[in-house]
Amino acid sequence: MADAPQIEMTLDITRLPHPAPVPGASREQAIADPGFGKVFTDHMVRIEWSAGQGWHNATLGPRQPISLDPAAAVLHYAQEIFEGLKAYRLADGTMALFRPEQNARRFNASARRLAMPELPEAAFVEAVRVLALADADWFPKVEGGSLYLRPFMFASEPFLGVRPAREYTFLVIASPAGNYFKSGAPAVSIWVSGDYTRAAPGGTGAAKCGGNYAASLVPQAEAIERGHDQVVFLDAAEHRWIEELGGMNLFFVFEDGRIVTPPLTGTILPGITRDSLLTMAREEGLAISEERYSLDQWREDAQSGRLIETFACGTAAVVTPVGRVAGEDGEFTIGSGGPGQLTTRLRERLVAIQRGTAPDPLGWVKRLD
Ligand SMILES: Cc1ncc(COP(=O)(O)O)c(C=O)c1O
Repeated sequence: MADAPQIEMTLDITRLPHPAPVPGASREQAIADPGFGKVFTDHMVRIEWSAGQGWHNATLGPRQPISLDPAAAVLHYAQEIFEGLKAYRLADGTMALFRPEQNARRFNASARRLAMPELPEAAFVEAVRVLALADADWFPKVEGGSLYLRPFMFASEPFLGVRPAREYTFLVIASPAGNYFKSGAPAVSIWVSGDYTRAAPGGTGAAKCGGNYAASLVPQAEAIERGHDQVVFLDAAEHRWIEELGGMNLFFVFEDGRIVTPPLTGTILPGITRDSLLTMAREEGLAISEERYSLDQWREDAQSGRLIETFACGTAAVVTPVGRVAGEDGEFTIGSGGPGQLTTRLRERLVAIQRGTAPDPLGWVKRLD
């Protein structure tokens, strides 16, 4: 997935005045220890789409409740998609986004799968950029902090027939986020869901649509109840091949230096972190491949010592070691149960690129001002 060239931006975003931004002292208090997804900034971007007008009415204005007709199609048939990306602060204080064109491109792939209109990539990136800059004061000053940006689109047309809606709303909101892991990256324990799958061939697994996450809540709760951090899903057809976690892709590292990650066959989300790691590893000359890998083989390889590391990756936690895997037929440990060497090295290299402290040969980091 090469980074896309910029498409000409044809949409002007009108700036609406904010009558009552949060006072500085309250904002400072809110961002002192923001956690994740609980604190929101002053502004939002909104762009409307209708079958007659296409994209129109682009505004940057106060973040506020939206009014929705009770018949809005999203409330009935879940025609909704979203993205998640972070604005980072580089060592020199500039804010930057990491490969935002890839989020724009994935957003449009999700839109096509959900029969929704595509937003020009340049408009998506511009919407994210103007919001991050407008709410720069909300950037948390905590170590490892970021401004999490959530672009999303839903069917707003009031209509109860089952067909693609003729009106949509695109919004971007922002949320200051603390360091996902306060100190380093502890290994997580994962639960193999025996009863549930995430996505079937021909379904919406490769799209970032709300419905996929609604369906993952029960298996994720099951994982937590059993004392694990995350759920891992197997394929729906054979219930044998490892797919991904509820919100992260997986990589397997072998004793002979090989690295394997499940291929993008349409049932897993094409993670941007996954693609970045594949690219980095290939550039470094590591033997990395996209191949199916089964649960039985994973267990056998972990037990024989052939497999030495497993890690999960995604925007939220970058690269996270997997230490323990459990399912209906017992559990096994990966390596020593803690972070492996390659996991740690790849994580450090990617974080350094994102924070502007390592060379960025592929131009992944986009400075905002
Ligand atoms: C199901 C799923 N898989 C993988 C990922 C990782 O994707 P990315 O690296 O683009 O954050 C995410 C997070 O967006 C996800 O929700």
